[in-house]
Amino acid sequence: MLRRLYHEQPESFAFTPANQAWAEAQVTKYPEGRQASAVIPLLWRAQEQEGWVTKPAIEYIAEMLDMAYIRVLEVCSFYFMFQMQPVGSVAHLQICGTTSCMICGAEDLIAVCKEKIAKNPHELSADGRFSWEEVECLGACTNAPMAQIGKDYFEDLTADGLASMIDAMAAGEVPTPGPQNGRFAAEPLAGLTSLKEFDSGQTQYNASAALATELGDSLKRIDGSEVPLTTPWIGKDGTVAGRDAADAPPKAPEAPVPVAKQVAAKKKAAKPSKAAKSEKTTEKQPETLKSAREGGADDLKKISGVGPKLEQTLNELGFYHFDQIAEWGEAEKSWVDSRLKFKGRIDRDDWVQQARELATKGKEHS
Ligand code: FES
Repeated sequence: MLRRLYHEQPESFAFTPANQAWAEAQVTKYPEGRQASAVIPLLWRAQEQEGWVTKPAIEYIAEMLDMAYIRVLEVCSFYFMFQMQPVGSVAHLQICGTTSCMICGAEDLIAVCKEKIAKNPHELSADGRFSWEEVECLGACTNAPMAQIGKDYFEDLTADGLASMIDAMAAGEVPTPGPQNGRFAAEPLAGLTSLKEFDSGQTQYNASAALATELGDSLKRIDGSEVPLTTPWIGKDGTVAGRDAADAPPKAPEAPVPVAKQVAAKKKAAKPSKAAKSEKTTEKQPETLKSAREGGADDLKKISGVGPKLEQTLNELGFYHFDQIAEWGEAEKSWVDSRLKFKGRIDRDDWVQQARELATKGKEHS
């Protein structure tokens, strides 16, 4: 199948503010100069936000990661998980058509899709709400035939069951993922033959289906406000853990918070109070220089986390010497951080402490 840019493209792309913060945080996982490593997560996030990967999204991500457009397009067109054409606004159904699923009835599922959605794969239904495609093995062969819809697997499907599921989704319902024939997980159809003491009746659904049901967002497009945060060192409001609580004593690791509590906390935290907003660190411009002092600039690349590009940016901002960076307080760090392309590096790599040590070493040697 040819994988190329769709003939009709939107004018522009932008991450939602929350997704932008998430994307920038992903980039900080990688060393300076290796931002391209974040290309797959960012493409995936763009798809989760929009449903498919558009040309403007490819260009946007290429700009973010300092990559040539063609490199990002190559990644996108190579991996079949990226949709390169519009998908249904409610759901895109990926029906597994590989051996186990085919033997167990995948062709009947595809016939349902053809009848209820559109004749051809990747074709939108008449109302634009559904689309489908046949995919290779999704690794749930024990529960064949199966399909991925949105973020979840729907297993042990029948043609009638899938038809009802499509009707339910069209009516605004979110079907429960997991096995659709009463199986708890992937145990034998005739019942357990070993580990019989395990009582699946203790919980209604297996862990994956339970989590999906609790979140209730199988079909929802991601806008960045979901829990849990996947970049814990950068909060959704852009605050950096460690920077905004620099004086706080180290905390003991906390027990995992149940998802239900996280959802409740998320709703509560959705509207930050005015007091909370005013607590955000204010910015203050540090002292800058027009050029390096006599004797030349320090090699700022000796600070772990600062590569050639960041050194150039720091020089352009007026920082040439370790002792300048060593003087930054919270407000100054905040000023500099807001002018860097990827936030959070100053605290993550503790530039100030590193600069202090390098400045001290420099004095000792001079
Ligand atoms: S063959 Fe369908 S999930 Fe493996």
